[in-house]
Formats: sequence, C-alpha cells, structure tokens
Amino acid sequence: MAIRSMRLAQSMRAPLGLISRHYRVEDDRLSQEIWHQGFRNPVGLAAGFDKNGQALGALQALGFGFLEAGTVTPMPQRGNPRPRMLRFPAERSLQNSLGFNNLGAEEISRRLGGLRGISVPVGVNIGKNRTTPVDRAIEDYVFLVDRLQDRCSFFVVNISSPNTPGLRDLQQKDTVKELVSECAKKTTRPLLVKLSPDLDDQAIVELSVAAVGAGASGIILTNTTTDYTILEGASPPGGLSGRVLRQRSYELLRAVAAELFGRCVLISVGGIDSATEAIKRLRAGASLVQIYTGLVYGGPGLVSEVVRGIAQHLDECGARSVDEIIGSDLDK
Ligand code: FNR
Repeated sequence: MAIRSMRLAQSMRAPLGLISRHYRVEDDRLSQEIWHQGFRNPVGLAAGFDKNGQALGALQALGFGFLEAGTVTPMPQRGNPRPRMLRFPAERSLQNSLGFNNLGAEEISRRLGGLRGISVPVGVNIGKNRTTPVDRAIEDYVFLVDRLQDRCSFFVVNISSPNTPGLRDLQQKDTVKELVSECAKKTTRPLLVKLSPDLDDQAIVELSVAAVGAGASGIILTNTTTDYTILEGASPPGGLSGRVLRQRSYELLRAVAAELFGRCVLISVGGIDSATEAIKRLRAGASLVQIYTGLVYGGPGLVSEVVRGIAQHLDECGARSVDEIIGSDLDK
C-alpha cells in the first residue's frame, strides 16, 4: 500500500514538491562526498522496500540522503508463498520470507532509466535467481552488474538474505573474493557487500577484509537474522528485522569498524528507529545508516526526525560537520 500511494503521489508532481518541502532538512553540515557523489545526509532507505525502483521519487521527498532499490535478480520471480510478512508490533520487529520477488533486470533497468528528478545517490542491490545453482551464482551477479551499471550510483552485492536457498553459502572468503573481483571487471561503480548477522564476529570481520581486499568499496551490516531465539513466537521461515536485531547489528559494526574503519565505507542497518540509534552507529564508525522496519512502525516522518536529531547532535557537540562524529567512539 505504501508503495502504491507513493507511486500515486509521484504521478502528480505538485504533491511531491509539498511533501519534500515538509520533510527535507537542509543542513550542509550533514552532507558528505563519498565516491565522488554527494550524500546530503547520512540516512538512507534499506533494500527490500522498493524492490522494483517504483517509488524512488516519493522516497527521496521523505528526506532520505540516499536510496537502495532491489534486490534485483536477472530474471523476474514471484518470491515465496504468502503469508510472507509478519508483524511483531510490541517488539517493533518484522519477520519476512519474501524471497526476492521482483520484476527482473530488464524491466527494472527500464524503470531506473526513465527516472527524472532524483538527485540523491541510488544504489542497486543485486542477488541470484532462486533457480540458479549456487555454483553458477557468480554469473548472475556479473550479468546484473553489466546490465545495470548505467542505472545506479553503486551496487550492493547481497549474499546474506535468508530466503533464497544457498545464497548465504556464498559467504565464504574465497567465494567473496572471486565474486567481488569478477564484478569489478565489469564496472567502475563502487561495489558494496551486504553481510548476515548470523555468522560469528570473527568470520564477518574476515569476510569484510577479504571483500575489501578484492576491491569492495564498502560493507553493509547487516541483513535480517534467522536467530529465532531473540523473538518469542518467531519460527522459520524468514528473517527478523527491527528492534530485535538492533544489538547484534551494532556489535558487528563495532567488530568490523575496529578492523576496517578508514579503509572502506561502512553502512549500518538493523533496528535503527531513532536519531539516538543512528548517532550511535555513526559514532561507532558507520559513514551512513539505513532504515527499513523503523519506517514501517514509525511512518514517513521518521526520516526527517532522525536527520534533524543528527543535526541537533552536531549542535550539542559543536561539530562543524557529520564527518567529525563518524568513528568518534572508536577505541583509538
Ligand atoms: C528486507 N531486507 C532486504 N535486504 C536485502 O538486501 N534485499 C532485500 O530484498 C531485502 N528485502 C527485505 C524485505 C523486508 C520485508 C524486510 C523487513 C527487510 C533487509 C533490510 O534491507 C535490512 O537489512 C534489515 O531489515 C535490517 O534493517 P531494519 O529493517 O531493522 O531497519
């Protein structure tokens, strides 16, 4: 419904201007230049909300500093049977087993190519088709990078969704190295790797280091979790997101930042639903943060609330730019 109403708003240009005036926060201190691209604030939309890139104009109007479309697979696919999205409102959490339902590379490329008026960076999150055998998965990613590189600002190589059988098996050091270097042969766009919270800290750090060594420009931590012990009433299939994921996502950011801060861009996602939480991630070493579940419970005003809260934090610490707080809690 949210996507549908945003598409409707997009089709009438005037309300988009009004929405944008209402939500957008103008504050140069929040902007960063990353990969020669301007990020007007560090708060982005996480993958999976606008899988087909249908509502990017309206999402930009909510005040996001950057957007991520996808996951896109080479061929269209319907995803898993319903029900495939459960709400846990008391815990402000979700369980989803969507399984990369999307319109496929051809159609999404056409849509992204037709976009007008998007001035924030747009990443495309890519994944393999369900029917592609794991030992041929790299071919899917290479195809997608080749096909979509004129359509995005950066790519997110998704090897961490729990809803495509075998996908997480790609989270092996040698596979990640091969995957990143094969994709890098096809594009000069920044490649980011998105990892799962369900491996131990050391494995995640090693994978992150391997990805960056092979040419990745950034790491996104984390995708949803299949640790059902953290949410009463949850059981397979599907991945959990929202508040129940918050602590794990933060811990992994800290572990990876201790190793890689300053050597690549870290993006933190998982349970961020307030300015306080976003600031904590920035201070722990994330240059950017992303939100999905928080938006479902907090509504469209959450983005500008978080952005304003970050600006207020800069006032309180007397910081001249968001750069000054990024990584400021790292053990030096
Ligand atoms: C997701 N997420 C996700 N991630 C991804 O890389 N590709 C995808 O297609 C999706 N799809 C998706 C659907 C739904 C319904 C949810 C709730 C989540 C994961 C998402 O981008 C994010 O990593 C996690 O949800 C953690 O962040 P939040 O939701 O706690 O802010």
